[in-house]
Amino acid sequence: MMLIRSLAGTTICAFLMACSGAASVETPVVESKPAVIEPAAASPTPVAGQAAYLANCARCHGEHGEGTPKGIPMTSGHAIAHSADDYIAQIENGQRGKMPAFKDKLSNGEIAAIVTYVRDVLQADITPEMRAMQHHH
Ligand code: HEC
Repeated sequence: MMLIRSLAGTTICAFLMACSGAASVETPVVESKPAVIEPAAASPTPVAGQAAYLANCARCHGEHGEGTPKGIPMTSGHAIAHSADDYIAQIENGQRGKMPAFKDKLSNGEIAAIVTYVRDVLQADITPEMRAMQHHH
């Protein structure tokens, strides 16, 4: 708490450039938000999605979506046939005995960022034709 408050004070001082007077120390400042990092919620960019993917998904689906013995590949087969909405549902609800549910663990923004990362970065080489060819059931 002390650290956060003093950091906030430093920032405000630097901004106002009025740190020399003792009066400014007593000036009440707007309660600063705690330094919680929510990159995915703040900006659902592929880069933000990468961190959340690596933290939550890579241990089963592989660092590059190549799959592991615990999770199917994201870059071939079954997974490339499914829509972004399917992915969101799968991530929110999981699958009994196979994949945990993430709806209580990740925000909607984080899930959206992960889906963007999987589909735009890990699946960058997957064409719509390749997706369509996988639709066998
Ligand atoms: C404990 C291992 C595990 C973790 C962690 C995990 N998954 Fe899965 N996931 C699986 C398995 C196993 C399947 C395949 C289920 C099946 O047999 O259909 C799966 C299926 C999926 C599917 C559906 C693909 C399809 O073809 O239907 C998606 C999308 C997916 N996972 C994304 C994710 C994402 C994104 C994360 C991280 C938020 C994640 N998974 C975390 C094991 C895991």
